[in-house]
Amino acid sequence: MIIAENELNSQNFKEFEELLAEYKELNASKVIEIGSLYGWTLQHFIHYSQEGSTILAIDLPVRNFVGPQDWRVEKQESNYKNVWPVWAKANKTKLYLIPDSSQKQSTLDKTKDIFKGEEIDFLFIDGDHTYHGVKKDYEMYGPLVRKGGIIAFHDIGKNEEGGVFHLWNEIKTKHTRYKECLHEANHEKGIGIIYV
Ligand SMILES: C[S@@+](CC[C@H](N)C(=O)[O-])C[C@H]1O[C@@H](n2cnc3c(N)ncnc32)[C@H](O)[C@@H]1O
Repeated sequence: MIIAENELNSQNFKEFEELLAEYKELNASKVIEIGSLYGWTLQHFIHYSQEGSTILAIDLPVRNFVGPQDWRVEKQESNYKNVWPVWAKANKTKLYLIPDSSQKQSTLDKTKDIFKGEEIDFLFIDGDHTYHGVKKDYEMYGPLVRKGGIIAFHDIGKNEEGGVFHLWNEIKTKHTRYKECLHEANHEKGIGIIYV
């Protein structure tokens, strides 16, 4: 099921495969990923979406965190320009990138424009990992997900840096159905799935 084993990524494959199994069931055609970096998870979301899907990647470019000469800047910009469009074309996906913070009202407004006010099937939150950052992503973009859709969070493990673990534990039981994919012995990484 994993299609890009050698690319740079921060996922536990077993956890991500569990998420992908749910994703494939959805037969998603409208998808948002917050935090795409080089596109490892994005590639899978494109590949396993319905042909002709609309997918939006919201990603604060790595240029904002490292110097312009850093190798990661060139790698990311080349992926944005040369690699992601190839993945999209293979699935006839309309792929959009907002290279800005998900937490800005202008980003949410652009998102609503892209989906023409329609609800989405799947939201993956893997951007700002601070408690307040992930909470904001959940509160701003969660309401766009249709009933029967999925909201997934990366890094819910209790030993993971950042505040996803705390936010996840606050919200998970407020939903009638949720799932935790936790396969790291040291309780890092982890994917939380909410069935809306
Ligand atoms: C852990 S990486 C994403 C990894 C990717 N999902 C994968 O597994 O291949 C987090 C990404 O989120 C971006 N990011 C951080 N804060 C953000 C924000 N407020 N809005 C949008 N993207 C953000 C980072 O720049 C980085 O590209």
